[in-house]
Amino acid sequence: MIKEYENYQNTSKSYDTTRIPIGIEILLGCFATNPRPLLEQVILDGGCGTGNYIQALKSKVNSLWGLEFNRGMLAQATEKFHNHPNIHLAQGSLTDLPYENDTFDGIMCNQVLHHLGSENAAGENFPELNQAFEQAYRVLRPQGVFVCNTSSHQQVYDGFWWADLIPDAVSRIAKRFPPITCITERLDQAGFSFGGIVVPIHAVMQGDNYLDPEGPLKQTYRNGDSTWSLATQAELEQALERVQNMNKDGSIVQYLDHRESLRQKFGQTSFVYAYKKQS
Ligand SMILES: C[S@@+](CC[C@H](N)C(=O)[O-])C[C@H]1O[C@@H](n2cnc3c(N)ncnc32)[C@H](O)[C@@H]1O
Repeated sequence: MIKEYENYQNTSKSYDTTRIPIGIEILLGCFATNPRPLLEQVILDGGCGTGNYIQALKSKVNSLWGLEFNRGMLAQATEKFHNHPNIHLAQGSLTDLPYENDTFDGIMCNQVLHHLGSENAAGENFPELNQAFEQAYRVLRPQGVFVCNTSSHQQVYDGFWWADLIPDAVSRIAKRFPPITCITERLDQAGFSFGGIVVPIHAVMQGDNYLDPEGPLKQTYRNGDSTWSLATQAELEQALERVQNMNKDGSIVQYLDHRESLRQKFGQTSFVYAYKKQS
């Protein structure tokens, strides 16, 4: 059963003002390793959100299929692409893909894995990861590539300047991010052969707004990352007070410099890719 901790029904409305698709060149590079030319490829975007990645890739491939669990996010995507004959959107879950076997040349999954279940009643870790990976393997064509864009734990802590302001919420969300080693192991268990991991150091998911020193004071800015939704009211108030004080006394400049030096070392995201073996 899917449990949502971020209220995407609400945040979907402002999502596009807070997030941009990053790593497009990495995705295209992965898809381009397939013997089928890019312009003939059929690509699935699992957890497509408002369709930002579909928008960026739509002129590069033959067709794109977007699957999204949340109806608010899906409605935003549908509004963008309702007249586009090569884009097909549907509501559903990565854990139960509504597609035939061997349908796609490539699958991407951008910043979704931490929204899957992190533990089941039997105490197993990341049980839905297995289901999602088995499903991805099933619907990929042989030699197809599966790209998971996620964040390592180091990136969760140091890739976002404001994470230091809400350390308890960050610890909570870190538990929801499957570690990269867990992802590679589960991909292997699902039958994939490991391709590699690419980290785009120079790209930030929040685009030009990222280093806004007053960003966390604004609800729309906070809506751009589900970590904020895991902060308690007391944690949030403490964080906002700290931001206000640092802006007042000017120490925010030095603080951002320090946090930015860490981000530039570790990046925000990791693209893990793997192949379905040739049958
Ligand atoms: C952080 S957003 C990323 C959206 C989009 N991929 C992007 O990068 O702009 C995570 C998305 O995953 C969706 N999601 C969460 N669990 C899902 C599942 N089991 N199947 C499909 N989508 C899911 C959420 O509804 C949300 O739209």
